[in-house]
Amino acid sequence: MKPSNLKTKIFLDSGDPKETREALALLGFLDGQTTNPSLVAKNPEAVGKKFSAAEVLNFYEGVVKEVSSLIPQGSVSVEVYADKDTSCEEMLDQAKNFYAWIPNAHIKYPTVTEGLKAAEISVKDGMRVNMTLVFNQAQAAAVYAATRSSKKGDVFLSPFVGRLDDRGENGMDFIANTIKMYQPGDGHVEVLVASVRSIDHFVKSIELGADIITSPLKILKQWAELGMPVTSKQQTADSNQLRPIPYEELDLNRPWQEYNIQHELTDKGIEKFASDWNGLIDKSK
Ligand code: G3P
Repeated sequence: MKPSNLKTKIFLDSGDPKETREALALLGFLDGQTTNPSLVAKNPEAVGKKFSAAEVLNFYEGVVKEVSSLIPQGSVSVEVYADKDTSCEEMLDQAKNFYAWIPNAHIKYPTVTEGLKAAEISVKDGMRVNMTLVFNQAQAAAVYAATRSSKKGDVFLSPFVGRLDDRGENGMDFIANTIKMYQPGDGHVEVLVASVRSIDHFVKSIELGADIITSPLKILKQWAELGMPVTSKQQTADSNQLRPIPYEELDLNRPWQEYNIQHELTDKGIEKFASDWNGLIDKSK
C-alpha cells in the first residue's frame, strides 16, 4: 500500500510489462511507467532478435499497450526515436502515432532545440509531454518556458541523476536546484527524477519533494523491503565524494530559445538511445 504521507508519485522505469506486473504486486500500486529505446531493447523478448523497422514499432506498441492496460489510471511515457538530425516534424509525426496507441501517454522528447519545438507545438495541441535527457538548469528553464501554456500534469521534466553522478557531479544537487528554481513558477512542470541508481537517490528525491520518481524494479524492491521509507536517516559516503552542483539564478520568464541548452550528456544520451534502437533493426528485412 502507498504510504499515506507519500506525495511523490512512483513510476517504474522499464520496457518490460512483466516488470509492471511485478512492481504492482510488490508495492500494491504504481502511478506510471517510463520507457525509452534502451529499455525496449533490454526487453527479454527483444534481446538477440532482429526486426524490420515496422516490426520494431509494432513490438514497442505491444509493450506500451500492455503496460497501459495494467495501469490505466497512470501515465505511460513513450519516447520518440531521435538522432542528431531528427527534425521537429519527424518527432511530431511519431508523437501523433504513439498518442493514438493508448489514452494515458506522455510523449518523450529529447531536450534539444528540435525536441523543444515539438514540445511547444504538442502542448498547444493538447498533448502531454515528458522532456528527457535533462542535465542542467538552463534546459529545465527552457522546458518550463516552451510549455508555458499547459496545465499541471501535462508536462514532465526528466533530470538524469545517475549520469551526473557517473561523472563525479552530485546529481541530487541538480534535483534540489531544479525544484528550487521552479518554486516561484506556476507549477505546470512536474519534476520526474530519472536515472535513479540507488535507494539513496530514491528516498532523497522524496525528501526533496520531487513530484515523481521513475525507478528500476531493483530499487523498488529495495524500497519495499525497507518498508517504503519516506525519509533517509543519514547522508551516504558516496554522495559526499561527489562535486556539488551550485544553484544558478535563472529567470523563468524568458523565451525558451534564449537559454543555452547545449549539454554533452544530452548529445551522448541521444546517440546511445538511437544506437540501441537501431541495434534492433535489420535493414535488409
Ligand atoms: O529514466 C531514465 C533511465 O532509464 C536512464 O537510466 O541508468 O541509463 O542512466 P540510466
